[in-house]
Amino acid sequence: MGRIIAIANQKGGVGKTTTAINLSACLAEKGQKVLAIDMDPQGNMSSGLGLDKDDIDKTIYDMIIGEAEIEEVIQRGTIENLDILPSNVDLSAVEIELIDVENKEFVVKNSVQKIRDQYDFIIIDCPPSLSLLTINSMTTADSVLVPIQCEYYALEGLSQLIHTVELVKDRLNSGLEIEGVVFTMFDARTNLSLQVVENVKDNLQQNIYKTIIPRNIRLAEAPSYGTPINQYDPRSAGAESYMRLAEEVIDKK
Ligand SMILES: Nc1ncnc2c1ncn2[C@@H]1O[C@H](COP(=O)(O)OP(=O)(O)OP(=O)(O)O)[C@@H](O)[C@H]1O
Ligand SMILES: [Mg+2]
Repeated sequence: MGRIIAIANQKGGVGKTTTAINLSACLAEKGQKVLAIDMDPQGNMSSGLGLDKDDIDKTIYDMIIGEAEIEEVIQRGTIENLDILPSNVDLSAVEIELIDVENKEFVVKNSVQKIRDQYDFIIIDCPPSLSLLTINSMTTADSVLVPIQCEYYALEGLSQLIHTVELVKDRLNSGLEIEGVVFTMFDARTNLSLQVVENVKDNLQQNIYKTIIPRNIRLAEAPSYGTPINQYDPRSAGAESYMRLAEEVIDKK
């Protein structure tokens, strides 16, 4: 049965989507059957994996409001072994549409259950909030992977995120775990990056991935070509690091 990992951190711009896109693509390159779920109305994961987010017939929004079956929304064939459940700005209306819906925390889970057997990994890109969309991601997931940007305020907001995971675990999804944290945008030229890594290691009682994602311009460029890093520049430091992260995630399964 597929392992479902939500990539979450309510802090903006820490590398959630970059990690979701490239971890998905690297797992797929390693022969794993992957579904990438875009739970962010920004739709950056969808476009970063080659879809035109403003020209998609049905999105995850249609699935959530019950207008489409999950099978109708999944996009296949852009990248080998990698299917995508796309989103776009339509998804931003969902919080309001679900207000009176019973079991609104489980809408996504109920759809994903129908297809999870078809995949080895399901990777969910969460929006930068602790909203109903993130809660739905956490009830669907087996674990939460937290990207942490190597900058001064790295730990800010992290206790809130961990608290939310604990609440979801207590009340909605008893099997939920914190998969671990992964450092992103590490800059080897500055002492600050190193200090942040040391500080987080000393203060956070969580699994920390050995792989550290460096700040790498190729990772920032790839989305504008709609390709993941392993296709855009397989020899880049960014590609090598996400391939290593994929190996660690597979080994942990
Ligand atoms: N390792 C990296 N090296 C260089 N640039 C990076 C790296 N990781 C992410 N970026 C860039 O940093 C910006 C923020 O990254 P990303 O969109 O992945 O963060 P996010 O957490 O998903 O943001 P949001 O909270 O808005 O969803 C993007 O422009 C991205 O291209
Ligand atoms: Mg994002």
